[in-house]
Amino acid sequence: MRFYIPPQLLRLGLAFVIFVTLFLFIRHSLVPESFGQYGFYRGEALGEIAGLPVRFAGQKACLECHQDIDELKQQDVHSDISCETCHGPGQIHSENGDTTLLEKPVDRESCGICHSKNKARQKDVVFQVDLKEHNVQKRCIECHYPHQPWSMKE
Ligand code: HEC
Ligand code: HEC
Ligand code: HEC
Ligand code: HEC
Repeated sequence: MRFYIPPQLLRLGLAFVIFVTLFLFIRHSLVPESFGQYGFYRGEALGEIAGLPVRFAGQKACLECHQDIDELKQQDVHSDISCETCHGPGQIHSENGDTTLLEKPVDRESCGICHSKNKARQKDVVFQVDLKEHNVQKRCIECHYPHQPWSMKE
């Protein structure tokens, strides 16, 4: 008896082959070359990330020139908060003194990032004030020096 493949199966097989070929082709053209070089990710990504410019200098770098500020800071409640938490990335400033990119968080909301009253916060870990009630007529830094919040300026 002759081996017989019904035409609907042939068509199905053909569709299957076309589908798989198309899939392999598309996959080949979309997957980046270095994918899988080290693991389930693009091998080149490592070099690209390592090549990004450094933005944060780290507090140690700041102290080379601003030791005086750190001495104030060490004596008070903000001692554990590093400079760049408030002033933003300071690598460029540390290298060439350029102050334009530094942040100076002088408005009430900036202090509020950590201190505004919020039920979800543990109030005995970071003390909270209601920004709408606590001395609303002034900015925080007019009374609390940011590097030494309890050396009041009043
Ligand atoms: C090589 C020395 C040097 C290093 C390192 C350095 N600074 Fe400065 N910084 C200066 C000088 C000089 C000024 C301008 C005079 C001043 O205000 O003390 C300044 C000013 C500032 C100011 C005031 C900017 C303004 O607009 O008034 C801030 C804030 C500051 N630095 C933060 C930092 C931080 C944060 C770091 C660490 C990431 C840092 N600095 C590292 C030298 C340095
Ligand atoms: C809690 C946030 C905070 C931290 C932490 C902080 N600063 Fe500041 N800093 C400020 C604010 C706000 C001002 C602006 C004060 C003003 O204009 O009266 C300021 C001002 C400055 C100035 C300008 C001169 C002055 O005394 O006003 C320098 C320089 C400076 N900071 C450096 C530093 C360095 C260096 C560190 C780390 C040792 C640091 N800051 C940590 C918030 C902070
Ligand atoms: C990155 C978070 C952060 C920012 C921003 C910040 N603080 Fe603080 N602050 C703290 C921590 C942490 C403490 C120590 C825990 C405490 O005593 O609440 C503290 C303590 C204080 C205290 C003493 C509270 C107490 O009774 O012990 C005052 C006052 C204060 N900060 C004022 C300010 C002011 C003013 C600003 C804005 C210039 C500011 N803080 C910005 C985290 C922050
Ligand atoms: C007019 C001056 C003045 C201004 C402006 C001011 N404070 Fe105070 N702050 C005080 C005094 C005085 C105390 C201590 C007595 C009290 O708790 O009211 C205090 C207490 C605090 C405490 C400790 C609260 C506690 O439960 O122990 C924090 C945190 C604080 N302030 C943060 C801020 C922040 C953040 C701002 C800006 C949104 C700010 N303060 C604005 C004078 C001021």
